[in-house]
Amino acid sequence: DKRRKEEVSRHQQILDMAQAHYVAQLKLAQPAIRYLKQRGLSGAIAARFGLGWAGTDRRGLAAIFPQYEDPLLVESGLVIEADDGRRYDRFRERIMFPIRNTRGKLIGFGGRIIGKGEPKYLNSPETSLFSKGHELYGLWEARAGIRSAGHVLVVEGYMDVVGLAQHGVENAVATLGTATTAFHIEKLLRASHTIVFSFDGDTAGRRAAWRALNACLPLVRDDVAMRFLFLPTEHDPDSYIQAYGAEAFRATVSEAMPLSRFMMDELASRHAMHEAEGRAACVHEALPLLAMLPEGTLRLQIEREFAKRVQLTPEELSGMMRDAPPPSN
Ligand code: UTP
Ligand code: MN
Ligand code: MN
Ligand code: MN
Ligand code: MN
Repeated sequence: DKRRKEEVSRHQQILDMAQAHYVAQLKLAQPAIRYLKQRGLSGAIAARFGLGWAGTDRRGLAAIFPQYEDPLLVESGLVIEADDGRRYDRFRERIMFPIRNTRGKLIGFGGRIIGKGEPKYLNSPETSLFSKGHELYGLWEARAGIRSAGHVLVVEGYMDVVGLAQHGVENAVATLGTATTAFHIEKLLRASHTIVFSFDGDTAGRRAAWRALNACLPLVRDDVAMRFLFLPTEHDPDSYIQAYGAEAFRATVSEAMPLSRFMMDELASRHAMHEAEGRAACVHEALPLLAMLPEGTLRLQIEREFAKRVQLTPEELSGMMRDAPPPSN
């Protein structure tokens, strides 16, 4: 209704004013500028992503919001109310990454500390405008890059998105410190029918990729492609492109493994496939995953290939799938 609309537009206005403030602060903050330079970022890229700086002042935003006690400042996530009722800025001494929705409207921020301290990244809380399970950092900024590349890259971090763009790879988006959800995949499929996941090369990244695969399974279609790229363990996309350059990164993207292979390799790696017992356990783990795949040629292809790996006939496998209980999620 009308009151709700007014509130949304005031919330929006507050975020826009804060963003202008953070950008202006960055121009004055030599240590922050030095940090960004040291991470290989140019002023042009910082400007393109609207990077800013939240200063050291506990009530820095009071400079632009004389009504610092306005409850909408708390609701917008920019101001925190302590137990004793005192209020202070959520973001202090952090590089600010503005997060936009698919219509280009500001909905929240991520902030990175430049020295030591915890947490390394702080995000806006969930608000009426901002839901981490739905939004992807950089999707607005990458819209033209995704179109011209013909695929969208999904990475873990803010710095991966910005660092890749610095090297001309302009089609990357990041989840916001949460697991990839079905909402994310649906949003991504509206941007491109080819999704390439490129998470960190460490075990956390591999786990994140497996969870992304699980979110993908119900949305697999014959006209979409989901691929998974695994970097060397010590790298994330940002550090990789810094070390080896854009051409090398693009080459690894073009060799990313298809969902079907990641699924089967991962399942096989978890079981003793040279033993009957191991293959049986592998089937047991795979059945609910296979059941998540929608009907279609790709599902038939995956079933046929998986049957071969576990030494069953396709008919035996589909018989087991009919008898298996329906997937729980
Ligand atoms: P990473 O820990 O991989 O970031 O977290 P990174 O690549 O090392 O960051 P840089 O290169 O040092 O700057 C990946 C993402 O996880 C979320 C953030 O969204 C981050 O971009 N994250 C990470 C948090 O939300 N909080 C944290 O404390 C850490
Ligand atoms: Mn990591
Ligand atoms: Mn990194
Ligand atoms: Mn990382
Ligand atoms: Mn570089």
